[in-house]
Amino acid sequence: MMAPMSRSPWNLVVRRFALPLTVALIGAACTDPPGAETSETETGDGDGDGDGDGDGDGAPGDGDGAPGDGDGEGSSLTYWGDAKPIIDRSCATCHGDGGIGPFGLETWEQVEPFALILAPSIADLSMPPWPPNADCNTYVDDRSLTLAERELLLEWIASGYPEGDPADAAPDPTPPEPFVADFTVTLPEPYTPTQSPDDYRCFLIPWPEDLTEPVFVTGQIAYPDQKQMLHHVISFIADPEDAHIFQALDDADPASGYECFGGPGTLDWTGRWLGNWVPGMDPWRAPAGSGIEVKPGSLLIVQMHYNTIAAAPVPDATSLGFQIVDSVERPGTFVPILDYRWVAGIEPMTIPANEADVHHQVALPRTHPLFAATLAILGVGSSEEVDVWRGTLHMHMLGTRAKLEVMRSGASEDECVVQIDDWDFHWQGDYMLEQPIPFGGDDTMQLDCWYDNTAANQPLVNGEPKLPTTTGWGEGTFDEMCLGIVYMARK
Ligand code: HEC
Repeated sequence: MMAPMSRSPWNLVVRRFALPLTVALIGAACTDPPGAETSETETGDGDGDGDGDGDGDGAPGDGDGAPGDGDGEGSSLTYWGDAKPIIDRSCATCHGDGGIGPFGLETWEQVEPFALILAPSIADLSMPPWPPNADCNTYVDDRSLTLAERELLLEWIASGYPEGDPADAAPDPTPPEPFVADFTVTLPEPYTPTQSPDDYRCFLIPWPEDLTEPVFVTGQIAYPDQKQMLHHVISFIADPEDAHIFQALDDADPASGYECFGGPGTLDWTGRWLGNWVPGMDPWRAPAGSGIEVKPGSLLIVQMHYNTIAAAPVPDATSLGFQIVDSVERPGTFVPILDYRWVAGIEPMTIPANEADVHHQVALPRTHPLFAATLAILGVGSSEEVDVWRGTLHMHMLGTRAKLEVMRSGASEDECVVQIDDWDFHWQGDYMLEQPIPFGGDDTMQLDCWYDNTAANQPLVNGEPKLPTTTGWGEGTFDEMCLGIVYMARK
């Protein structure tokens, strides 16, 4: 157990501040993140001072006369002894080496001048960004800080963020097994964003010709070239017979690639979702024994989201690496969860102007034709149980919260796949479940999305908040979506 945290000014600060890259982009949408109650950050009750480390946690800084001692608050926590491993793991992945974070946190020299301004973001849970609600499910590679880690960092900062002795540094953790790609592809030519601040561009890359047999993709890594302006990379795969659909989109646009916002340019799943990358994400890996089939002669569609609000547009030549195998035990595929009547305009997904809490919902039984069509590639029967392994949610700028769950017939509790309580368009990740959720013949998958279309929640256009207008499903930035993407595999 951590020692209780001492009372400090930081306890009072529960809102993030300054450097509002995201806030500027999404207008005033930024609200307090889930769980940012004062009770979570204010765990100390005034008895914290001078508690030292008598809690037997063996903090490496103990008993060595660390420079921090006597620094006012009686904490003996130091950078080298205590804070560094947490900052390295949870912050430096984005804050460093040309990463997306606005300043580096990789070395003591970088951390020291920023230490004071780190506390509010740690206390209000806005850093590190990790949108899923922890009560919904547990995920692999959860990057959020534990309560103990948060308290440790806040106590260290409040006590004057002493450096301590480099000799106390814990050995660097064993690095994760490196991702070895079987082959790598690069954008057809370097691309310099022309749309500001957001440029969504799709590029076509033929599947390697020497792959003359079907293979299964088991992992994907992005090698972002110009990380500072890269917000996401999503790859889609079109079967050989559908390749012409995307080729036509590319041919119609004179510059390299073509503009595409909500997906690869079509939403009929002729471009199947293959893998993605967002800042701070590890390589995409399929669940053990699973992978996505790709036929020879297929076409890769790579959607890039460039954001140039904080970085000048420069030529980008991002590459993607893939791991492939000849066969897998449990073929898998990503499946879109949405109501096709919205897309077709049969049942428009209307979000009226000036309404603050608009709700749209779709409930799809396992036997729904959508699953029959998208799961055909797995060769499963129309009510056969499959496993749900991974999920993500997608809305645009007006979204406020969303939830995807499996409603189990006859069971008292539904199983939550992913839930985001404070939607932020710029932090879209996808989340790999620690345990798969079975989705069988009697079950239903339900997606709920909420939107705020009042003046207070409008994106900026030329620096001015847009006027609320009634909107609905569409690919454009100012249209909306209510979409889930889940990875399903054979049992
Ligand atoms: C996944 C990438 C990522 C990780 C991990 C991350 N940050 Fe950030 N951080 C950003 C980005 C991007 C910004 C710029 C503002 C924004 O977009 O929210 C930022 C901004 C900040 C700011 C400026 C204030 C603000 O909230 O905008 C602080 C302070 C900060 N980060 C601290 C931290 C700390 C401390 C950690 C680790 C506990 C951390 N960050 C982990 C990406 C990250």
